[in-house]
Amino acid sequence: MRSVESRADIESERPVSKPLDEIVDLRSDTVTRPTPEMRRAMAEAEVGDDVYLEDPTVNKLERRAAEIFGKEAALFVPSGCMGNLISIKVWTRHGNEVICEERSHVNLYELASMSAIAGCMPRIASSPDGILSWKQIEAVIRPKIYYDSQTALVCLENTHNMAGGTLYPTSVVAEICGGAHDAGLKVHLDGARIFNAAAALGESVDKMTRQVDSVMFCLSKGLGAPVGSLIVGSAPFIEKARVYRKMFGGGMRQAGVIAAAGLVAL
Ligand SMILES: Cc1ncc(COP(=O)(O)O)c(C=O)c1O
Repeated sequence: MRSVESRADIESERPVSKPLDEIVDLRSDTVTRPTPEMRRAMAEAEVGDDVYLEDPTVNKLERRAAEIFGKEAALFVPSGCMGNLISIKVWTRHGNEVICEERSHVNLYELASMSAIAGCMPRIASSPDGILSWKQIEAVIRPKIYYDSQTALVCLENTHNMAGGTLYPTSVVAEICGGAHDAGLKVHLDGARIFNAAAALGESVDKMTRQVDSVMFCLSKGLGAPVGSLIVGSAPFIEKARVYRKMFGGGMRQAGVIAAAGLVAL
């Protein structure tokens, strides 16, 4: 089968009676386009320099995200990958291990950034449906002995992309957080599609993520905004995250133009 190279290719293969806009593109929820309301909000967005903390639209988006998740603070980041990497970097030191599910995005699809940049080893636990239990996590925590690398973080994914959108029951997340915290570990949630899980469970993301230390969620996927993700957590976590965002090249200037679409999405 010939690969489709461009919109022009697609259009040349389509019956003339059907305009391209009638195609429902199911390759990914990342191919959504901003709604007219989002485009209007973007055009009219009040902006400033966000590296100076002076973009009112970004500030509003961050306040809104923190409020929805019941956390102290939030940070707008260019992508989900950067949000996960920043969170991993805040919670770990070079040489630490990060427990994650085998087919998780942080393990397979982030170009080994947790190793290449944060200096950590993924420590894998596997589950056919992508959903880990505390028992599976506990089994791969390193003993607290000076000649072993140390486990610092558990990274969950809800919904689990490669397992087909499976989700964590909130009680399982709570049990994992309780066990992890007792063991001195932090829990980061890759919640790229957390609102899908919330819709399926009929619960609020605030309740679903109450014990989790940090959450990354994407505006640019099921929520339909063109760009951006947020990380949410405690004020000290976000303060450190802001430093790493700048270090990784993610400090944006008049980012209110894209944050405005995010506000509509939320
Ligand atoms: C579960 C999950 N986490 C993180 C990401 C990364 O998001 P981004 O493409 O914005 O970097 C994706 C992207 O598809 C994803 O599916």
